[in-house]
Amino acid sequence: MEKIVIKGGQPLRGEVQVSGAKNSALPLLFATLLADGVSEISNVPALRDINTAVRLLRELGAEVDVSGDRCVINGSKIRSIEAPYDLVKTMRASVLVLGPLLARFGHARVSLPGGCAIGARPINLHLKGLEALGATITLDHGYVEATADKLRGAKISFDLPTVGGTENLLMAAALAEGETVLENAAREPEIVQLADALNSMGAMIEGAGTAIIKIQGVDKLEPLKCSVIPDRIEAGTFMIAAVITSGDVLVHGAVSADQEALISKLIEVGATITPEADGLRVVGPKKMQPVDIRTSVFPGFPTDMQAQFMALMTRAEGTSRISETVFENRFMHVCELQRMGADIQIDGHSAIIRGTKQMTGAPVMATDLRASASLIIAGLAAENTTEVSRIYHLDRGYEKIEKKLAALGAKIWREEE
Ligand code: UD1
Repeated sequence: MEKIVIKGGQPLRGEVQVSGAKNSALPLLFATLLADGVSEISNVPALRDINTAVRLLRELGAEVDVSGDRCVINGSKIRSIEAPYDLVKTMRASVLVLGPLLARFGHARVSLPGGCAIGARPINLHLKGLEALGATITLDHGYVEATADKLRGAKISFDLPTVGGTENLLMAAALAEGETVLENAAREPEIVQLADALNSMGAMIEGAGTAIIKIQGVDKLEPLKCSVIPDRIEAGTFMIAAVITSGDVLVHGAVSADQEALISKLIEVGATITPEADGLRVVGPKKMQPVDIRTSVFPGFPTDMQAQFMALMTRAEGTSRISETVFENRFMHVCELQRMGADIQIDGHSAIIRGTKQMTGAPVMATDLRASASLIIAGLAAENTTEVSRIYHLDRGYEKIEKKLAALGAKIWREEE
């Protein structure tokens, strides 16, 4: 197994390019299942989750050719409608094949994902929505079995704005008969990209990016050709890394409109953030102010940035409170940050962080994807050496992060344990 080693204390300086967004690439890859023919997606990041998605597409019978950041998918020979447990348990986003398979073939069998490190993460709202479109859903030996002769448009009001649920329903409703209205839909930029992509395939979707999305079903969709948007979570991770090291970094691909909540919090911390041609320049202050955050759905503060922001708050001069409202168990990184000298107390769904002058490097263990990034950020600012193990979590969602940070002047490398 590999680990990441960091010798902290170097201010990050220079320019970094953000890769394509994992959370956009995954639904786009699965959206190709809606069309008979050859789709092509560019700016696909090289990540473990993308490999899992490609394995799943191949398992279903699609021919997939990956070369560099380009994925060519031939969806004309789909021969299976089943997403097996070993793939779904590796990556929950595999449940996004449910909507497309059901809409195109009238039948889908997808393993139930079960829990994960950050909480229970049910898919009840995906299933309730598909039932409203006329699907019959049964649970059998750990699998969701969905069937429908023809999906029919319906009004669906989500109990809470779910990103994956909105994506599954968008893809299913695109080929349903008549109009579907999604109320209380998720508004993340990845939803907007999926709706734009589906429209380019011939779908008729309006309102993506707002809480109400209207879809007029069509009979057939054409193959997809598109380029994945930059990863706002990767961009945000580099922005925080620049701030915690009192550095000066131009993050190419960071989009202000997608980062408003993070930008305003980093400015409160003391950072200077300036838009430049195709990105944001982030300059970190010498002294960091404590700031409270509360995660919520877009455009609120993203839960996927919570762990990284907590690492930053360990350096602030004072006490901050971070409240997690999206996932119930997303403080796994706290114990590891404590091993590096952080003063953090958990109080229900909140963490209270008393900033320490200097964190000290330690061997730590990544527990999930964003927790891994949090430990790397802490390591960049800590004294001495930090070793982060179990980095297979990191490789699910960050493309060559150690190489990108090293190019910015960090002393960071990967080695065999
Ligand atoms: C997506 C992102 C993930 C991010 C999350 C929230 C992908 C591949 N993953 O995950 O990185 O952290 O959005 O921004 O895009 N819920 C239910 N029932 C459901 C569905 C969701 O109760 O049927 C709950 C979840 O348990 C959670 C909340 O809704 O508490 C939000 O989850 P959701 O938006 O669905 O997250 P994902 O799509 O799984």
